[in-house]
Order: sequence, then C-alpha cells, then structure tokens
Amino acid sequence: MKITEVKLRKSFTSRGDETVEATVVVGGFSATATAPAGASTGKHEVVHLPQGGANAAIESFNTNQIIGVEAGDLKAVHDALVAIDGSDSFSRIGGATAFAVSVAALFAGAKADGVPAFTKVGLRPQMPFPLGNVLGGGKHAGPGAPDIQEFLSSPVGAKSVLDAVQANIMVHRQVLRLIEKKDPSFAGGKGDEGAWAANLSNRDALELVRTAIDSVSKELGFRIIMGVDMASSSFYSNGKYVYRREGKSFDRNEQLAFVEDIIRKYDLKYVEDPFNEEDFEMFAELRKSVSSLIVGDDLFVTNYRRLEKGVKIGAGNGVILKVNQVGTVYMARLFAETALKAGYTVITSHRSGDTCDSYLAHLAVGFSSGLMKSGVIGGERMSKLIELSRINEEHREVSLWRSTV
Ligand code: PGA
Ligand code: ZN
Repeated sequence: MKITEVKLRKSFTSRGDETVEATVVVGGFSATATAPAGASTGKHEVVHLPQGGANAAIESFNTNQIIGVEAGDLKAVHDALVAIDGSDSFSRIGGATAFAVSVAALFAGAKADGVPAFTKVGLRPQMPFPLGNVLGGGKHAGPGAPDIQEFLSSPVGAKSVLDAVQANIMVHRQVLRLIEKKDPSFAGGKGDEGAWAANLSNRDALELVRTAIDSVSKELGFRIIMGVDMASSSFYSNGKYVYRREGKSFDRNEQLAFVEDIIRKYDLKYVEDPFNEEDFEMFAELRKSVSSLIVGDDLFVTNYRRLEKGVKIGAGNGVILKVNQVGTVYMARLFAETALKAGYTVITSHRSGDTCDSYLAHLAVGFSSGLMKSGVIGGERMSKLIELSRINEEHREVSLWRSTV
C-alpha cells in the first residue's frame, strides 16, 4: 500500500541530543519512529543532522516527493529519500530524518498488510540473543572509568530471550556487588547505556566482569559469553592507541598483542572495534589468530562497500548493523546481505543515545541477526529487549541463533 502522509517533528534522544521523529501514514494505518544518535560515531557514518539541527532538517524535507511511494518497498522509499535530500549522504535532510521515515514506512506498511514487521525486511528471520553492556568506560562514561568502552555479556545458552534478558540483569547486579566490594565509596554512577561507570583499570574491569558472569552462569546452569567493545578509534591518535587510564600507548602491533592477550586471559568471545576504523589489515590479522567473533562497527559503519573491502581480506567475522549509520533500512539490508553471504555474523545494535521505540527488535530479527546489542537496563533499552522476547514467544517458528563461538 502507498504512503498517504508523512509528518516530522523535532524530538530528543535519551542523552538529550536533538533528533527527528517521523509518522508515516498508509491508508488507515500509521507508524511513528524516532532516530537514535551515537556518541562514539564512526568517521564514515552519514551525518546525523545538518547545520541548524532538527528544525533545518525538517524544513528542507519536501513531503510531496514521498507521497504515493509503496511503503513496503524498501528501495522505493530509499530512492525517494535520496531524491528529496539531493546529496549522497543525507547532508540536507540528515541521516536522522532518513532513518525515521524509512523505519516508520516499513512499520506502517507491515501494519497495512497485516504481517509482522520483521518479515518486511525480506531476509530469513532469525531470533538473536541479547548482548548488553554491564560496565562501561570510554566516551560513554567520565574520567577514571576504563578506556575500553563496553564490557558485554550475552547469555547464548538460554532457552528463551526472556531468560537471557533476566540473566543479563543478574550479571549487571552482580557487577555492582563486586564494584562495591572493591570500592565502598562507589556512588552507583552509570554511563549513557545504563552500564556501571566505575573507577577501575581495564584489567580490573575485565577480571570483575569475568567473575560476575561466571557466578551467574553457574547459578543459572547455562552458558553466558563475555565480550568487549573497545571502540578503539576513540582513543587512537597519531598512530598510537592511547590508554589514558593506564598511562600507556601502543602501536598497532602492540595493540594486537594486547588484544590477543586479553582474549585468551579473560576468554572473550566477542571483540568489537579492537583497531582503528581504517585498519582493515589488523582486523584480518586478529581474525586469523583467534576463534572469537571479531566485529567491525566504526570499521564498516553499516556500509556494504566498506564491508566488501573487508570481506576480500577476511577482516573480522562479525558486523555491527546500525541503520542510522547509513540512513535507510534498504542500505542496511544490502549490508546484511553482504555479511550473511560472506558468513559473517550480524549484530543489530542500538545507539548510546536512543529512544523508547522498540522497532530495533523487529529489525534485528529481520536482519537475521545472531545478537541484538541493546544494553541491559533503562527504559530505552528494556523496550527493545521486551519486544524481542514478545516476538520470541509469539513466533516460535523463528529459531534462536546457534552460537558459533
Ligand atoms: P555509540 O556507541 O552509539 O555512541 O556510537 C555504541 C558503539 O560504539 O557500539
Ligand atoms: Zn561499537
């Protein structure tokens, strides 16, 4: 069915950043979506909003050019948004506007057709396990916190999404207990995604999360894997990885040795952005030497051309998919297709500044993801996790990811 109306409004993310909300109407049906916004953004992402912010983005959007477009046709919606914008990077309407319209169109189209939204992505649906950060540092926390941005937990041995969500909550609580033991003056601070922001060295943080995961895994009787998002582009400067918290700096070979060491020592099964966003070669080196998921976020920025370049040399074996890095669901689907064809695991992800929208769960299933990265606690995180568990309960025909690590 065709789009009959599009309404845009200025809105805000959980961090208070300006963003755009879109309502797309398809006959008697409508859906509303709001774009999230990152803090440790990749250099090659589309621009979130133009100069002048959400108001400028909304003013430059000509709604007439999208009326009459088939809501469920991802490419047609993408083409209309590119035509309205007139640049090749959504620099006038903003990636936020492209995102909000593209996602709302998919959901309104699904409602009009009476089908689950995840089927509209057009790939083989798969139920991912939640992957959430329980302890944070880097750009999501203040000084004193670890340089590594996220310490992650994923209960891949759980029987259901709901059990996995609960297991991650238990790990989050256990991490708090261990922090308080180490530092009785800890005031309970949290970073942008609800992960604890404590005054810890990288090694102490790794050790502490390892202990928390092991004890919850033992208690529940199923496997919980540990991971990190190093977001290392955010502390890469003049050819060096600068660990401010430790007062150390590493060249790329020393960084490789450090990452290999922590993978082995703390049994990390998931490592995101261990190298700078331009260093495809080092992602390939690490991929050869370990069996964990080596995941590109700032490296690929959901851009299938960058991924094609990575696939050629075996850079990593997993990809972060964030629709707002490229602007539209259509571009993200091209990216997911490229990843799946090359045998890479897709991890569909929230942003550090997000909203209470729950569409991410449907997109994660639709993109055939192995994991959905969306935090552990907080309203804007929980909405997605609970929606994922609803889909899991209502669509038993969609099987859960079988962990490859
Ligand atoms: P961001 O961080 O949303 O602030 O970019 C999340 C991530 O790096 O995965
Ligand atoms: Zn990341």
